[in-house]
Amino acid sequence: MTPANPVRYDRESEIALIEIDNPPVNALSAAVRRGLSDAVAHFATDAGARIAVICCAGRTFIAGADISEFGKPPVEPFLPDVIDAIEASDKPIVAALHGTVLGGGLEVALGAHARVAVPGTRLGLPEVTLGLLPGAGGTQRLPRAVGLEAAIDMVTSGRQIGADEALRMKLIDALADGTDPRAAGIAHARRLLSEGAAGRRLSDVAAPTVDPQVVESWRGKVAKASRGQVAPLRALDTIAEGLALPFAEGVAVERRAFMDLMQTPERAAMIHAFFSERRAAQQDDLKGVTPREVNRIGVIGGGTMGQGIAASALAAGLDVTLIERDTAAAAKAAAGVAAMQDGAVKRGKLSAADRDAMMADRFRAVTDYAALGDADLVIEAVFESMDVKREVFATLDGICRPGAVLATNTSYLDVNEIAAATGRPQDVIGLHFFSPANVMRLMEIVVADRTAPDVVATAFNLAKRMGKIGVRAGVCDGFIGNRIMSAYRAAADHMVLDGASPYQVDRAVADFGFPMGPYQVGDLAGLDIGYANRQRKAATRDPRERVPVLADRLAEGGRLGRKTGRGYYIYDNQSPQGRPDPQMGTMLDGIRAELGITPRDFTDDEIRSRYMAAMVNEGAKILDEGIAARASDIDVVLLHGYGFPRGKGGPMHWADAQGLGTIAADIARYAEDDPYFWQAAPLLARLAESGGRFADLGKDAQ
Ligand code: 3HC
Ligand code: NAI
Repeated sequence: MTPANPVRYDRESEIALIEIDNPPVNALSAAVRRGLSDAVAHFATDAGARIAVICCAGRTFIAGADISEFGKPPVEPFLPDVIDAIEASDKPIVAALHGTVLGGGLEVALGAHARVAVPGTRLGLPEVTLGLLPGAGGTQRLPRAVGLEAAIDMVTSGRQIGADEALRMKLIDALADGTDPRAAGIAHARRLLSEGAAGRRLSDVAAPTVDPQVVESWRGKVAKASRGQVAPLRALDTIAEGLALPFAEGVAVERRAFMDLMQTPERAAMIHAFFSERRAAQQDDLKGVTPREVNRIGVIGGGTMGQGIAASALAAGLDVTLIERDTAAAAKAAAGVAAMQDGAVKRGKLSAADRDAMMADRFRAVTDYAALGDADLVIEAVFESMDVKREVFATLDGICRPGAVLATNTSYLDVNEIAAATGRPQDVIGLHFFSPANVMRLMEIVVADRTAPDVVATAFNLAKRMGKIGVRAGVCDGFIGNRIMSAYRAAADHMVLDGASPYQVDRAVADFGFPMGPYQVGDLAGLDIGYANRQRKAATRDPRERVPVLADRLAEGGRLGRKTGRGYYIYDNQSPQGRPDPQMGTMLDGIRAELGITPRDFTDDEIRSRYMAAMVNEGAKILDEGIAARASDIDVVLLHGYGFPRGKGGPMHWADAQGLGTIAADIARYAEDDPYFWQAAPLLARLAESGGRFADLGKDAQ
């Protein structure tokens, strides 16, 4: 193999081995496509070779097209042509699969005449998660292999399936015993030769019948699950339309759809999200810094967050000691953690035996802090009170071994002040998990003034190990996510005071693509949290700041949201998901009259514009202040912690796509009503002035 050719051609007696070696994930770059195409041509003329095996070196079979090439001019040979050449081969070709066989990778495998996988292989067509659809025959070959509905399910959801399921579906022909894909491929090729079998071309297989009723029923499901995204429905139509045509025409339909989707803002947004998630972990200042070793962790406080953090850490293979205030609370926390593991068993994510071993050997809930003496890292998740947190950290300072990392899960509080309760502020950091912590993938890594670099590196390592996306944040009230949420919540509250109803705001925001509006979120989280936070800050509040009187009235009246059956909405047997309160209008009229506000109408568009402008403006302030290092980090936080629609890429990407001048002009208009709240971020004003974009800031550093 020369560096220029990442595809090796070898022979083992009558078996040709075509091995792709393009780390890290064997993506189908132009060089791989060229190498594969040449290898297949060589196999055709290699008289001694009767069968070929396509396999991959490294950790995975081909994980798809090379995403970094998207949006650039296409380079020959094109993938559909390479796959057609594989399929057209007169001599059989076996695909030997391992790792994650995704997108174009699975399409290559579907072009082969037989497929064998090693145990643990995962297969999928994730193109819709990038705003695309399979563009190299996948929508037409997959249904011919697995049937219409199974194919629709895989293509429109992008979900990965395991090797066992793939075998049951007949997506693969065999599951190997060993773990070596090359050996598995050779063994399968030998078997085919000895049986005189040649596998089959999927393009020759009759297409499954397309029942329009089946397609219609999927349309409903897909529309609901994809929340306004274009690609999944287009994928469904492409499957149905293509299968009604001869194979070659079906593939042409697919190609047109793929090219169309390549031009959409949704595709650009979703690929931005993909790379932003990976970029978040790249920290130039941590290059060469060795993270501290973490095996045993402590969790203090076994409430909502402590339980979720403990469950997530256990799933990552860590040893967990949870500390509660008394034995009853410890037992309750342990039961909560156990219930989460039971849930994992039910969902097939964990075996019952592994759960039992994990709970017996690696987990304990106790009351004595002394049990944390040998912990490598402790995460505090007690009440959101500075006094309580400082007391906990002072205790930890006296108990934990030197070098242990001391982390707080605070949502808003000053991590510097918490660190100052110890004699080792260099070991203190914020690890802000999101609720439910065993499900949500975001973790804000809050770096305080004196946090040591190797503690930051340890936090990023821990995030990866726990399957989380760590995003670095600086210290401020609410860090990245909650600070931005406070801003757009305030914009919504102002509109409600001025004439909109909370229900209209929720609807307008959901129409943008959020799974819920701010008032539904508030009811879910509990209105007491925000109320307590406002009380804490009341004494220092600027008199020009508008108070969300409705939120205060609800909380003071014991309407705390879902948990009390009433908040902005009413929750009961009749409407477990909540229904509008018919008294809301009267309540709001009363509040407006008290405040001397003459209500006015808001269009849904204005609601969305104000909501988004508040989000982007606060994001720009956060970026300018260095609380977030990159605009893309802010996007990752909103995407993974606050339900921002992935098809729009995150608020900063969305703002760039709108043009920052438009948003700055909106803010200037809104400032005429409320100059205190609508102060344009200087960075936004500068970029709007110069025609710049958030994405180009610090490009070299990114
Ligand atoms: N193209 C280019 N780069 C890719 C890539 C791809 N398809 N997949 C992964 N990478 C890069 C990542 O950006 C990352 O780079 P970095 O180290 O510089 O940040 C590196 O490979 C490793 O990736 P991960 O950190 O994600 O590694 P994991 O082990 O956690 O995950 C994976 C591996 C499951 C393969 C995951 O990377 C993944 O899901 N990749 C995307 C797969 C995908 O969407 N494929 C479909 C592409 S579209 C297509 O095929 C169109 C076709 O139908 C024509
Ligand atoms: P919670 O009230 O559900 O749980 C707190 C637990 O801490 C209680 O079980 C309590 O008994 C225990 N506790 C209190 N003082 C203790 C002490 N000195 N030693 C041992 N245990 C003690 O609270 P929740 O929601 O779990 O929040 C915990 C922290 O996580 C807070 O700082 C909160 O701001 C933060 N957070 C909360 C999120 C949420 O959505 N609930 C999201 C992200 C962060």
